[in-house]
Amino acid sequence: MILSIESSCDDSAISITEIATNKLLFHKKISQELEHSVYGGVVPELAARLHAEALPKILAQCEPYFQELKAVAVTSSPGLAVTLIEGVTLAKAVSVALDIPLIGVNHLIGHIYSLFIEKEAVFPLTVLLVSGGHTQVMEVNSLSDIKTVAKSMDDSFGESFDKVAKMMGLGYPGGPAIERLAQEGDRKKYDFTVPLLRTPKLAFSYSGLKNAVRLAVEKSEEKDYKDIAASFEHIATKHLTHKLKKYFATHPPKNFAIVGGASANLYLRSQIQELLKPYKANLLLSDLAYCSDNAAMIGRVAVEMYKKKMFTSVEDLDITPKSNI
Ligand code: KG4
Ligand code: ZN
Repeated sequence: MILSIESSCDDSAISITEIATNKLLFHKKISQELEHSVYGGVVPELAARLHAEALPKILAQCEPYFQELKAVAVTSSPGLAVTLIEGVTLAKAVSVALDIPLIGVNHLIGHIYSLFIEKEAVFPLTVLLVSGGHTQVMEVNSLSDIKTVAKSMDDSFGESFDKVAKMMGLGYPGGPAIERLAQEGDRKKYDFTVPLLRTPKLAFSYSGLKNAVRLAVEKSEEKDYKDIAASFEHIATKHLTHKLKKYFATHPPKNFAIVGGASANLYLRSQIQELLKPYKANLLLSDLAYCSDNAAMIGRVAVEMYKKKMFTSVEDLDITPKSNI
């Protein structure tokens, strides 16, 4: 069994995964959404303090498994420095106390493996990662063969939902709130410009759209918010499908996946489904419970890393807040 810890942002989570079967034996997450909601976004120092309280509480519930643990895994990159350190410090303590190897897991690879919780992995895979911190397209052939082909130059897809929600006073996280509001609105009412429409560059950008939405919000009344939300969601999604269509012209997908917190968005899912039709590609999605940050996905990666003995010593495991993927 492997114990895995996730604390890269605002979710304190610990899981236990059986190595031979990928079975999830224990899974607990304490979310800090409510605490950050009043600020309209994650406050790193508050998040760190809440992890320091929550992680030891969850770990105590894992005690019955301690004797059978073969390794401890933890998200060490990317994420908020002050919150990553909470998980890594705890993982090091467990590694030393139980004399078991330590595995440092990349959170983005975790999101990819959220597709394979309690399942076998499927490759090759073209992945669209849409989370609060990242928007990127990756070609994934194996655990160690991951190539990023496009990423955001500024804000991420999820982050733009958070910022639009904040403008409308809807709290944090903004994704689910905007999605709910958009369902009642007219997607064609506001003619926002699709970002990077005229450049051939394979990249994403959400800061211009965010500013256009800000102007619309400032000029309008609350009763118009649903139309703004619907039009924003439509254009934010169209930006993704437009760039993906360009990429597919030279790299037709076989297996395509959407992962990350924002992959829960139903409008995005439906538009990607439409886009994939001509290619007859399989669409892989994580269970809704594992789209947002969790420790089960970290545990699933750790099973693969354990089999390859990809361990790091307690002295050498460091946090790397910026992604190297
Ligand atoms: O993967 P995740 O839990 O954390 C990061 O690794 O960043 O993703 C959180 C992000 C937030 O920005 C949140 O607003 C967004 O995912 N999100 C959504 C939806 N549910 C969550 N965005 C759009 N539509 C949703 N339904
Ligand atoms: Zn994440």
